[in-house]
Amino acid sequence: MLIKTSASGFIHPVSSEITPQGIYRSRRELIKLMAGGAAGAALASWAGREALAQTVAKPGKLAALAGARSAVAGAVTMEKITDYKDASSYNNFYEFGTDKSDPARNAHTLKTTPWTVEVEGLVKKPAKYTLEDLLKLSAQEERIYRLRCVEGWSMVIPWVGYSLAELINKVEPLGNARYIEFITQADPKTMPYVGSRVLDWPYVEALRLDEAMHPLTLLAFGMYGEVLPNQNGAPVRLVVPWKYGFKSGKSIVKIRFTDREPKTAWNKAAANEYGFYSNVNPNVDHPRWSQATERRIGEDGLFAKKRKTLMFNGYEAQVGQLYAGMDLKKYY
Ligand code: MTE
Repeated sequence: MLIKTSASGFIHPVSSEITPQGIYRSRRELIKLMAGGAAGAALASWAGREALAQTVAKPGKLAALAGARSAVAGAVTMEKITDYKDASSYNNFYEFGTDKSDPARNAHTLKTTPWTVEVEGLVKKPAKYTLEDLLKLSAQEERIYRLRCVEGWSMVIPWVGYSLAELINKVEPLGNARYIEFITQADPKTMPYVGSRVLDWPYVEALRLDEAMHPLTLLAFGMYGEVLPNQNGAPVRLVVPWKYGFKSGKSIVKIRFTDREPKTAWNKAAANEYGFYSNVNPNVDHPRWSQATERRIGEDGLFAKKRKTLMFNGYEAQVGQLYAGMDLKKYY
């Protein structure tokens, strides 16, 4: 993100995995059903089966963390899921380096046990949750979300977790709570780039309370049916699919309810480039590049076309009303 050279200077990994057989089979089934005129009724169940087939086809090496398919509107997509290999080796996690390959190489030093998340500020029931408490707080769901990075690339990832609203409801926000701040781990002993001048550590992100309460906002513990790899934000991170990826803080240790808009890491670093809202918006350019199109990781062959970026990353039907009447050019 900070890299000021040029947007086109990013190097993408070559996808070495091929689409698993199950997906082809599912697509053929859909085509057959469409020909038979039964597409509408069959679409929902087909989408579910495709999602499942893709997830099962991407095993990693970590502990299993399964989730039932989510019923939240917008939580499943029929798009091809990004290869696990790409999703776990092309990362932004500046605590472990600024290169896309640094987190996968360096994040093995992150110590994820024991882990606690402290909830404080304007709530009736402040609490310190162990990771085990958090995992038990609600049923795990699988959500297949697009993640669009502000740099112009995107992925489709099957996350495992539950709506952040589940946790928010448990701690009972006070009437004057309007924002939530997410403070992430900043341990120079285990995170080699904490202390570097790239950002003001810890990495802090924040949401308006209604954004945080939206059912799509996910507290994620896993992906591809397993616990999160360290480089993807283990053991617990946020995923806010309609916002640029940097709003989804990794390795969260504190959640603070406030009445004032918090200062966030990227906004502090470059306020004219990274606004508080940072909703995916193809109509508002980054000052140094357009946000109208994106490159899907895994599709970057010689002839691969860029995709058009969708308003709110394609989640407009679900989240558009959160911003009714707001000038999204001003509140970028
Ligand atoms: N969280 C922390 N703590 N540190 C970071 O550097 N990078 C952000 C976000 N969360 C970041 C972070 C950015 S810029 C993006 S695009 C996403 O994480 C990337 O998530 P992924 O690597 O799991 O795809």
